[in-house]
This record gives sequence, C-alpha cells and structure tokens, in this order.
Amino acid sequence: MLRLSIHHLRREDFPAEFVFGSGSSAYQVEGAVLEDGRSFSIWDTFAHSGFYSGANGDIACDGYHKYKEDIELMADTGLEAFRFSISWSRLIPNGTGSVNVKGLQFYNDFINRLIAHGIQPHVTLHHDDLPQILEDEYGGWISRKSVKDFVAYADVCFREFGDRVSHWTTINEANVYALGGYDVGFLPPGHCSSPFGYVNCSTGDSTTEPYLAAHHMLLAHASTVKLYREKYKAIQHGFVGLNVFAYWFEPYTNTTEDVKATQRAHDFYLGWFLNPLVNGDYPDIVKKNAGNRIPTFTKLESDRIKGSFDFIGINHYSTLYIKDNPSTLETDTRDVLGDMAATLIYGGDSGNGSLPIEFLVNPMGLEKLLNYLKEEYGNPPIYIHENGQQQPRNGTLMDTPRVEYLHAYIGALLDAIRNGSNMMGYFVWSFFDLFELLDGYNSGFGLYYVDLDDKELTRYPKLSAYWYADFLKGKNMSG
Ligand code: NOJ
Repeated sequence: MLRLSIHHLRREDFPAEFVFGSGSSAYQVEGAVLEDGRSFSIWDTFAHSGFYSGANGDIACDGYHKYKEDIELMADTGLEAFRFSISWSRLIPNGTGSVNVKGLQFYNDFINRLIAHGIQPHVTLHHDDLPQILEDEYGGWISRKSVKDFVAYADVCFREFGDRVSHWTTINEANVYALGGYDVGFLPPGHCSSPFGYVNCSTGDSTTEPYLAAHHMLLAHASTVKLYREKYKAIQHGFVGLNVFAYWFEPYTNTTEDVKATQRAHDFYLGWFLNPLVNGDYPDIVKKNAGNRIPTFTKLESDRIKGSFDFIGINHYSTLYIKDNPSTLETDTRDVLGDMAATLIYGGDSGNGSLPIEFLVNPMGLEKLLNYLKEEYGNPPIYIHENGQQQPRNGTLMDTPRVEYLHAYIGALLDAIRNGSNMMGYFVWSFFDLFELLDGYNSGFGLYYVDLDDKELTRYPKLSAYWYADFLKGKNMSG
C-alpha cells in the first residue's frame, strides 16, 4: 500500500504556486494564557476542568515567547507557508469591543517575521477557542449572538492584518467542533448528553445543540465571507475558506446497507457543512433524520451561504469503515451520530470512545476523498490543512513510520493533482509536538519534539523534519 517504491517525490513535480507548509493553533502552542491582557477561552476552561487529567495549555510550547526562534526553525525546514490561529481572547479579551494592543503587537510581529523569512501566513480565526466570556454571557455558539460577534472579530483581523495576510480560514474543523463540543463532549465547551459521550454526559443537549452550533458557525462563516468580499477583497485580494475534518469512509461489507450507510456518513460529516456551502442547504438525509431538531435556512441565508468560499480546507488523517446501524433511529432522543445510523469502525478500536485510537495508514483514502470532493462538490480549490501521524510523545526522534506516512500521503496528493483535483497546498500537522486535542501531552504529531522536562522547552528535529526539509529543498526523495 505504501508508495515508497512507486514515487520518487520531488517538490518540482508539484505546481510552483502550490504551497507546502506546516501548522499549529494558538491554544496548542502559545502558552502565556494570562499574559499581556489575554482572557480565558473555553479551551482553557475545558482543560482546567480536568479533561486532560491535569494537563493544560498554560505553557504549552511557550510559543508566545519563543516564536522568533520557532520561525527560524520553520525557515530552516524550508516551509513555504505556515498555518496558525489567532487567539480571539488575546486580541479582544472581552470578546467584543476594544482591541488588546499587546495581542495586536504579538500577531503583527509574528506575521511580519514569517513574511521576512519568505513564509506565507495562513491564518485561522477560530480553532476551538471561543472567548469564555461569550460562553458565559449567552452560551457561545449555541446562541445566534455568536454570529455578529464572530464577524466583528473577523473584521478586526482583516483590518489589522489583511494587508499582509491573504489566506483566511474562518473556523477550524467546524464539523468536528460541533460534534466534539456539543454532541460527544471531547472538545470545549464539552457539552454532552449523548450515549456515545466521553465525559460528564449530562451537561448539554446532544439532540439539538450540535445542529444549532453548526448552523450558527455556517451563518458566521457566510457573513464573514460577505464582509470580506464587500469591504476588503478589492484592496487586499485575499481568499477566505472554511475548514472541515474528513475521514475517508469505506463500507465495512459490500452489502447495500453498509454501502448506503457509508454515503450517509459522508453526508453527515462532510455534507453537513459542504452542501450548504456549495448548494445552499443541508443534505436531504441529514434534514430527514434530524427532523425539526436541525434549523432551516431562510432564502436569504441560503443565498448567502451558497458559494461563500474561495477554498475548502481539509484535515485528513485516516480511513474508517462504516457499518449500517438503523437501531439508533428508533430513539427520539438521538444525537447526530444516532441520526447518522451508522457505526464507525476504527483500525484498532471499536470506536466506542476509548483512547488512543489506532488509525489506519491508507494513502489511497486521501486520493479517493479528493476525487469524491471533485465529483460531488464541483472540484473546489482545496488546501490539505492538516495531515500527519500521531505517535507517543516520548518515543524516538527516529520517527521513521511518520516519514513513511508523509511520503505516502504526499504521493497520493500528487496522484490526485494529476487526476485533476484542484489542489492549492498541503500542511503537515504539526510543526511541533504541541498540546494535543484529545490527550494533552501524551502524544504528538510534530516534526519537532519539544522537551517538556527542560525549562527552555528545547526543540529537537525528528527524522521527519529532516525528510520534509530535504523534500522541500528539492532533493530527490525515494522514501
Ligand atoms: C485536528 C485539530 O485541528 C488539531 O487541533 C489537532 O491537534 C489535530 N487535528 C490532531 O488531533
């Protein structure tokens, strides 16, 4: 399955304007959580509630203080672009209103320094970290008030940074955020009442909240794109997109039931967000199974959402099998996963929530996913915003399986480009081992290891960092 013997990957085989980079997100690397006027986000609160058994992003990689040397490392690695997120709580600590000058200065310095090193900034506005104050005030994304506040925050970012930043992503993994934050509870704010839930599964209403939060994210996204197009596009000439998480799904068996369930899984994961963006409404099966628990778009909203993207950001890691599970449709208190009526089968785990999940390495899955996006959604411009391999944090710097993984997936990407997919760029997740989404500091995806036992938090390149650097600097790579 691996392509080591097939492709001799060369940077020059990819279009010159295609960008290769790596990425991070604010809460996962910055630390300095109460420094220079930053307020708590819902991710701070979630981490401090004990989800990660005591671990949190208070210090993380200390990126807030070490960004200068980090950008040197990025340049040494040959990155052409870097994807990072702005912490809303650092820029506008009250969620709305006045801008924090120190926060502004930090992101200005960060962006200027990237550009001075020839690295294109790709900015995410929201990466799981809504300001806590907005959660307290009106319930965050489950209230429609979030739409207006998000657009005002985006306006500040475009105004302040848009002269130098031309690639904007409104919301990271909007689909997983709606599921993890409001359905099964593994992401902030950790709301949950689902039978598939992770923790404290009585803190929300999984039957409606994920649909509401998703609806408001879509409205916020669309209004942000409208704002950019009306107010900034002619001057700044940038691009705005939405990011979604995408597995590739294969039917568990070739029975009609499992094949249909696999299409349903695509519709619930990708279609939930991409159908509105491309066609102006949710997929029929999502509307049918969710019934009156999913909000409807007015004609005006639908028109605004349809076409509201310059690119789609995709985070892809693995392939899962799908098995039909109609029994969940029999309960009235079902959540999104119940509406999906399908069971996700992971490589080494039944998918019932125990961690860590062992993910299948299947580069063909990426190729099939990109082909699916091309066929189903009119070949939109796509950035692979995240792709990479999770390994135990304190493993070895000789991360050969990660090198093989990256080589194989970048090879699949090249095949997809040659098959006509409209690919714009690829970002390895992640540049460092950072504060991980599900398990804090126990595992990492990084090209660089960060030594948490050393108070300098020294960064050490892994084999994958050398491999990626060689690839980017144009050497022939045979794996
Ligand atoms: C998804 C998220 O965007 C990122 O925050 C996370 O660290 C990676 N994928 C890996 O889990």
